[in-house]
Amino acid sequence: QSQLPAGYTLRALRSNDYERGFLDVLTVLTEVGGHTKEEFTDHTITITEDAKDQVVAVGTILVERKFVHKNGLVGHIEDIAVNSNQQGKKLGLRIIQALKFIGAQRGCYKVILDCSEKNVPFYEKCGFKQKEVEMAWYV
Ligand code: ACO
Repeated sequence: QSQLPAGYTLRALRSNDYERGFLDVLTVLTEVGGHTKEEFTDHTITITEDAKDQVVAVGTILVERKFVHKNGLVGHIEDIAVNSNQQGKKLGLRIIQALKFIGAQRGCYKVILDCSEKNVPFYEKCGFKQKEVEMAWYV
């Protein structure tokens, strides 16, 4: 059911992914920079193209402990990105499936994310429903 194309590997982020194109993948999302290796988090996963040993898709889940909802856990999905020349191969879907699995394993009662209007159909295909409205405040 959750098959990657041949020649790709899904796994947790490794510290040496820094040299394997991890930050390049994120440039499809927004401006990237100013990070050090030490700032990599544990809840980030990657898909690597084996032949090139390059990261081609990435995603992160942060787990929040609520003070409400019986101190339940909520998963927040952030920074989903697939290299421009690798989009449409279901790599984004596999990243989301893996992050949903991690959230469920960690005991989250829901997993949520913010996205642009144009990505709504993608997240619907990944099993998400539109709820509420995003608000933002910029310092
Ligand atoms: N509109 C309609 N359907 C879409 C779209 C879209 N924009 N994008 C994907 N889909 C559909 C696909 O057609 C496919 O449908 P199918 O199962 O019927 O064939 C399904 O969604 C899964 O698509 P994938 O091949 O897994 O998508 P992809 O690997 O290209 O990843 C992603 C999608 C992550 C949005 C990618 O295009 C990307 O990196 N875009 C630029 C960065 C970005 O916008 N990231 C998301 C920010 S939101 C956040 O991070 C929480």
